[in-house]
Formats: sequence, C-alpha cells, structure tokens
Amino acid sequence: MTNAPEIVLGVTGSIGAYKAGDLVRHLRDAGYGVTCVLTHRATKFMTPVSLQALSDRKVYTDLFDLEGPHILHTTLADHARVVLVAPATANIIAKFANGLADDLLSCILLATRAKILFAPAMNVHMWQHPTVQRNVTTLKRLGVRFVGPDVGKLACGYEAIGHLSEPEEIVRAVKQLVPVVGAPTGPAAAATPKAKSRPARRAAKRPTRKR
Ligand SMILES: Cc1cc2nc3c(=O)[nH]c(=O)nc-3n(C[C@H](O)[C@H](O)[C@H](O)COP(=O)(O)O)c2cc1C
Repeated sequence: MTNAPEIVLGVTGSIGAYKAGDLVRHLRDAGYGVTCVLTHRATKFMTPVSLQALSDRKVYTDLFDLEGPHILHTTLADHARVVLVAPATANIIAKFANGLADDLLSCILLATRAKILFAPAMNVHMWQHPTVQRNVTTLKRLGVRFVGPDVGKLACGYEAIGHLSEPEEIVRAVKQLVPVVGAPTGPAAAATPKAKSRPARRAAKRPTRKR
C-alpha cells in the first residue's frame, strides 16, 4: 500500500450515502488508500462499521475522538492527497463556502492543502436553489472541483438533476486530480483476477495426469 495516494472520503447525510461502501471498494481497487470521515447525520444513513470493514481502516465521526491521532482534523488534512466529499449535502456545501468549522469534516476541509472534490446529491429543487448555486459558484472560484450531480431517479420521486454520480464516474474524477502511479499493491488489488500470460494459458489447458 506504500505507493497508494491517500483519499479522505467525507460522507454526509444524504440518502446517497448508501453508495459510499461501493465507492470505497472502487477507490481501493483503483489503488487508493481510503480513510472515511462521516458527519453525524451520515451515520443515520450508513454505518461506520460497514465502511471500516470495506476500507480496512478506522472510520472517524468525531472531531474530539480521543483514540485517534493527537489533533485528528489536521492530521487527516495533512495526510490526504484528495479530500473527496461524496455524497455532498447542501449543508456541507454551504458550510464550506462560508468557512464554517463545526465538525470533523468541515475542519478537515479548511485545514487541508489537498485537492478537494465534491460529488453533490440532493433534491432537484434544493440543487437549483439560488443559495446552493451561489455556494457552488463560490467553491468553484476557490478551486474546488465538482463531479455531478447527474440526472436520475431521486429518492423524492422526481426524475431530475440531483442524483449522486456513479462510483466509477467519481473515481474517474479522482484519477484526473491524482493519478495512481504503478499497479495497486493492496489486498483489494490482490483480489482482482489478473489476465493470464500466454504460457500460463497454455499450461492451464494441458490436461493434468491423474495419480
Ligand atoms: C431521508 C433524508 C434524506 C436526505 N437526503 C438529503 C440529500 O440527498 N441531500 C441533502 O443535501 N440533504 C439531504 N437531507 C438533509 C440532510 O440530512 C440535512 O441537511 C443534514 O443537516 C445534513 O448534515 P451533514 O451535511 O452534516 O451531513 C436528507 C434528510 C433526510 C431525513
């Protein structure tokens, strides 16, 4: 795992949080190390235990965690090559656009010098609200990247913009910011079957003698 670029994945309180597990799996398969940070509201939608198992790392939810590093938010902020927030609620977008720092994730966002990528997910009318659009514009001007939201079936029943981008699309956006150099070496990579070389394929076809 030594060459794996480190991602801090912030998960916020959207119905789309159920996709966070899949996203962790895709990121690890692509060769990234992933540390998950959940907001308090995100824990209503996705259990930290699931993300802990999938990331093979401790999951953080509390700014005042006593078991983590000495100063958790600055340690995670410094450790990240990319801070990815997926799904990103209207709330975290508003907080970051206005410099609020009232929980672990919002403190990391202010403390980091890493690249920042938001994957928003919300109701179409929330997304189109002028205050949300103003906050998105503010963040884009500050250099924050966005992937999505996409048009899709929303939990509220609309078929409209506001759908969290698919994990593959989010990973593509991460790769554009920080590509993985060399092949993944972690256990997630080991689980991916590799294409056999030609001699290996020939050997596999040879019948084995019964004893
Ligand atoms: C069932 C349900 C689904 C929600 N889905 C979203 C969502 O997709 N996007 C969003 O911006 N807010 C959504 N919310 C509202 C957020 O949970 C709320 O704004 C919360 O304060 C976000 O906190 P956080 O940004 O700290 O995680 C939802 C709330 C509920 C009860």
